[in-house]
Amino acid sequence: MKNYISLSDIENFEQTITEGLQLKNNNTAANLGKGKTLGMLFFNPSLRTRLSTEKAAKLLGMDVMVMNADKDGWALEFEDGAIMNSNKAEHIKEAVAVLSQYCDIIAVRAFPGLEDRKKDEEDLVIKSFKKYATVPVVNLESATGHPLQALTDAMTITELQKTKRPKVVLTWAPHPRALPQSVPNSFVEAMHRMDVDFVIANPPGYDLNPEVRKDTQVFHDQDEALKDADFVYVKNWSSYESYGKILSEGSSWTFSGKKMLLTNDAKVLHCLPVRRNVVIADAVLDSPNSVVIQQAGNRTFAAQVVLKKLLENAG
Ligand code: CP
Repeated sequence: MKNYISLSDIENFEQTITEGLQLKNNNTAANLGKGKTLGMLFFNPSLRTRLSTEKAAKLLGMDVMVMNADKDGWALEFEDGAIMNSNKAEHIKEAVAVLSQYCDIIAVRAFPGLEDRKKDEEDLVIKSFKKYATVPVVNLESATGHPLQALTDAMTITELQKTKRPKVVLTWAPHPRALPQSVPNSFVEAMHRMDVDFVIANPPGYDLNPEVRKDTQVFHDQDEALKDADFVYVKNWSSYESYGKILSEGSSWTFSGKKMLLTNDAKVLHCLPVRRNVVIADAVLDSPNSVVIQQAGNRTFAAQVVLKKLLENAG
């Protein structure tokens, strides 16, 4: 693996899941990153991604530098040939070239603006880091994907599944703010690479990018989709069709104890942070069916296996 920008950078998905879960039980690579530095840049807030990736790097013996790039760094210009006479003090070309001297791996979080679909789909920040870096780049959630989260989700389903081909439902849930499609996009990609019976449930107007969901069955009736589910992944996203908009409050889509009864005693996942009693009801989050804490714990080992593969490839 040369970079981890999207799930497609993982060649053997099943083997990577197994390796991640093995690292959880036995840290066989504690010295692999000795003398190497991970630099993490955050243009948006984070709790899990920041701390689990830092922990993963330290479990490999790496040093870690973290920067809140939105607050502490110079405003970056991304346009080629820009005449930089306004508020952008540093060009991405110099910034990334310099960082590549300080770091052996660079990791970046940059959310979409959710105003201009075409612009967001260019995923300019993460792609510019990849273009100009001379060291591997890791996506800590970009405008279109969150591949570390999706690898975690796949690992969590793998370690909890009781049947060979479980039914997995990704269901939209309400949220007061417009959220990116990054998490569901990457989760859909992950499910396409697993042997699962996978369906999506969302209200009309919230269908994900057709290029991402491909031929996945989409239900506009949540109850119908939830029937006999072994795993339910609850997540909000803003509209892709009416890009970045909240079309309805949809409070009837809150994942409640009543909805749980439709499932096959499903395990419930969410990437967190979660708004209680808006996205998922207390009765579910406080029940043994919720695996969101175990899922968040697995973030460390998903990050560890990715960093391990990048270090091994760099030699
Ligand atoms: N799930 C996730 O990426 O959490 P943070 O935003 O806290 O990093």
